[in-house]
Amino acid sequence: MRDKRLSLGAGAVAWVLCGLAMAVPGLARADDAALVARGKALFTTVKPACAVCHTLQAAGSTGQVGPVLDELKPDAARVLRALHSGLGVMPSYAEQLSEADMQALAAFVSQSTGGVPLAR
Ligand code: HEC
Repeated sequence: MRDKRLSLGAGAVAWVLCGLAMAVPGLARADDAALVARGKALFTTVKPACAVCHTLQAAGSTGQVGPVLDELKPDAARVLRALHSGLGVMPSYAEQLSEADMQALAAFVSQSTGGVPLAR
């Protein structure tokens, strides 16, 4: 009887830890302002920086290699797709950025250009 309760306890602890791990992206998503701020910072600090190639007013960037994001107004899903797979000259960022970082960038670009934000 005692043993059974012990193992139930351990199971509950594992379950809670697992839930916490899964909640982290959810937490970031709940805090839009923080997510967008993080995306804005990443826009100029990832290597190579998005700003080198893209013009985006909200980031103060004037890159001329890729499309002007203020005009393209990509929705978050489109930004995520480009980040995951790369596109033409644009490299994929899947190797160096976490999913949460890519979502932050997608949130920033879509929100600052009036594109459709991430579905939630
Ligand atoms: C080396 C230059 C370069 C860098 C760095 C770069 N891009 Fe791009 N990006 C491009 C080019 C070029 C295209 C257009 C590719 C095409 O249509 O063939 C593009 C396309 C895009 C698109 C449009 C995708 C679509 O579906 O049309 C988005 C959104 C985008 N980039 C966002 C970003 C973000 C965010 C970053 C930083 C994480 C970034 N880019 C970094 C060159 C770059």
